[in-house]
Amino acid sequence: MTNQLRFDRRVALITGAGGGLGRAYALLLAARGASVVVNDLGGSMRGEGAGTAAADRVVEEIRAAGGEAVANYDSVEDGPRIVQAALDAFGRLDIVINNAGILRDVSFQKMTVDDWDKIYRVHLYGAYQVTRAAWPILRDQGYGRIIMTSSAAGLYGNFGQANYSAAKLGLLGLAQTLAVEGQKRNVLANAIAPLAGSRMTETILPPELVAALRPEYVAPLVAYLCHESSLETGHTFEVGAGWVARVRWQRGRGAFFPLGDALTPEDIAARWAEIDNFDEPTYPETPTDSFAPVVANLQRKAEQPPTADGRPPTADAATETAPASATSGGGRSSPVSGPLDAIGYEFAPVTTNYREKDVSLYALSVGAAADALDAAELPFVYELSGDGFRPLPTFAVTFPFALLWQITAVPGLRFNPALLLHGEQFLELHRPLPTKATLTHRARIADIYDKGSAALVLLDVDTYDETGAKLASNRSSLFIRGLGGFGGERGPSGGGLALPDRAPDATHRQATTDNQALLYRLSSGDGNPLHADPAFAAAGGFPRPILHGLCTFGFAGRAVLRAFAGNDPARFKSIKARFARHVFPGETIVTDMWQDEEGQRVLFQSKVAERDEVVLSNGVVELNQ
Ligand code: NAI
Repeated sequence: MTNQLRFDRRVALITGAGGGLGRAYALLLAARGASVVVNDLGGSMRGEGAGTAAADRVVEEIRAAGGEAVANYDSVEDGPRIVQAALDAFGRLDIVINNAGILRDVSFQKMTVDDWDKIYRVHLYGAYQVTRAAWPILRDQGYGRIIMTSSAAGLYGNFGQANYSAAKLGLLGLAQTLAVEGQKRNVLANAIAPLAGSRMTETILPPELVAALRPEYVAPLVAYLCHESSLETGHTFEVGAGWVARVRWQRGRGAFFPLGDALTPEDIAARWAEIDNFDEPTYPETPTDSFAPVVANLQRKAEQPPTADGRPPTADAATETAPASATSGGGRSSPVSGPLDAIGYEFAPVTTNYREKDVSLYALSVGAAADALDAAELPFVYELSGDGFRPLPTFAVTFPFALLWQITAVPGLRFNPALLLHGEQFLELHRPLPTKATLTHRARIADIYDKGSAALVLLDVDTYDETGAKLASNRSSLFIRGLGGFGGERGPSGGGLALPDRAPDATHRQATTDNQALLYRLSSGDGNPLHADPAFAAAGGFPRPILHGLCTFGFAGRAVLRAFAGNDPARFKSIKARFARHVFPGETIVTDMWQDEEGQRVLFQSKVAERDEVVLSNGVVELNQ
């Protein structure tokens, strides 16, 4: 075979090569011309005892096949002796495969210091000792290939292997840094996370699998990485049973917060969905890559004129990608005196995206398709629906959450977020929502009224799709208790809407589920613990967590869409309602609806059946004809 990857004149040191994977490496490299140091302490799988038989057997196998090998019986903890054995036998060293290993599996609760220490000493310290002794030789000759043996347990964690996984992930870190330090001298280091049948796995895997997972399926990757033609370094591979794949770190886009302001745990909680989102991943390869977003946030601060109170006006990377029409967040130089100064304030635009799963989750969280025998709402929850998958129009009320957190940073509007009450919501759809989209949200404080004890803040949020077309407009009326009395206008009085003096034209009645709020918080991004945590709800004076007002809003919107618009979102122009009372998850929402003569407006009101209390009042849906 002319193209065979050969190892003639190369010397390979393989630790723990008396059996299992190490033996397979030794046989393969020797068969391709390498001189091999077969190291093995020859003890038990738990690292007890020692013996020469294991290493001797493999050396005999190699010699019988015409190869060249010597045995070494030292523990890897005595790395320099093993390296010396290579120099004594062959006069050089090119390849170091750190493979020796033992197990001391036990739950962390029961793990002794000895269990911890022994594993650390064989796997991580042993690999250090061997590699450290080999390092100057490899560097000086300008050639070296090093393998560290990690494990899926190290990459992902595994019950009973706290000691082992810690050491195994340590080996990955070691390989990565040696790759950086060795690259200029052609000393390359990689890590593998193998899966193979051996005495290590025969106690946990069925015999057929142990037999099938032959170490010979792992050895070729190791040989390739050790060959002079491979320039791979600093990488990690999962390998076993005829499958080889590189593994790397993935990082989400993350959330950016304004610098200069106090960052609170509530800020983190409010934006958890972004922190935990992998829709726009990056794959950092170096610490510089890792720090890049941090540096970007710091630079953003430096480039923007500070607000009067020293706060950087914008903080989100999306600022760079959003359409350039708004002058975001402050940039004002006049002194901030109170809430009136916040009127006209524009938030830093934020970019988000959603996909089919988010659309379905939202619909489920507002009670869609609760009846398995009724297919009418399948198009909102099932992307393969024959009737054409589509978002519920009220899905768009979740959009403002992407930037609502910024309200606590608006100059003149300093307040405790716990004192914010959602008064009313208005949503207008400019076109039906796509089934997936990348969105840019722009928010502005439209007005602020002085209601005496509270400030009423009107927050407008416009949402655009990737082409720049406006999709939806939200207006939220927010009461901030304790912030009134600043001398502003009282604003329009919030008189109630008169309902027709006749029986409703349609009524929709649906029980919410006990976990409705837990579902809605996932679909909406509204992670307020008031809707999830009994202790938090109790502190707020509620016997248990309450349903999000916008969840009830979603139930009502669905009811109107179905009763008067044939479940066609294109017919749904706008919806407005006032939040009158709370609903407890598990209670039944009854929505009464009245259509006007022209068929363009539907008035509605939602009650909670169990307590006969109005929970949504002043409800109006405008329909497109
Ligand atoms: P194995 O038990 O057949 O081989 C390990 C060898 O290391 C044994 O021959 C043992 O005598 C030797 N050894 C133990 N302590 C030593 C010491 N202090 N000095 C020198 N030699 C010593 O097990 P296997 O499966 O071949 O494991 C090889 C490596 O692969 C280990 O590092 C293991 O943690 C790792 N690994 C194996 C997996 C598998 O599926 N077999 C999965 C993930 C990692």
